[in-house]
Amino acid sequence: MKLKNLFTITVATLAIAFPAFAEEETPLGKEMEKVSKAMKAIGRASKEGKVTKDLASKVDEAKTAFEAAAKLEPAKLKEVPAADKAKFLTDYKASCEVAIKELAVLKAAIEAEKADDVAKSLEKLNTGKKEGHKAFKSE
Ligand code: HEM
Repeated sequence: MKLKNLFTITVATLAIAFPAFAEEETPLGKEMEKVSKAMKAIGRASKEGKVTKDLASKVDEAKTAFEAAAKLEPAKLKEVPAADKAKFLTDYKASCEVAIKELAVLKAAIEAEKADDVAKSLEKLNTGKKEGHKAFKSE
């Protein structure tokens, strides 16, 4: 068998066995990845007790990405019945706004170098992430 054919068969088999393998990353997913990267840096610093003012720029990165995400439509919208689409989108945008507001709280805590408040805010953002994904992300 030619190597190219073997490769094609392998990719096809993986795509069937693991649908996630075939999933294209969406523009919204890309913005979320940016949020995730910025939040991980802050989460790490918080765990290590190294919260410093310079992390505020990471919050700005997360905020910019979230603002872009709020303007996009979740892929799950396709699965929502026509009659519910408008509400789904309104709810999605409202949840994005909640997260963006919490990022402002996080930024203030970072600038004040209040480690406890930073940890609390990270916790809230994490809960928002779980709820947001449950409601708006397709399986
Ligand atoms: C700190 C908070 C958050 C982080 C770090 C985060 C991170 C991510 C990441 C890494 C992905 C892409 C990978 C994956 O599919 O698992 C993703 C996807 C997604 N997230 Fe978030 N997320 C956060 C909050 C939220 C919130 C609050 C919402 C809803 C308002 C939301 C809605 C979505 C949706 C809908 C997708 C799927 C992409 C699509 O439909 O195209 N996320 N998120």
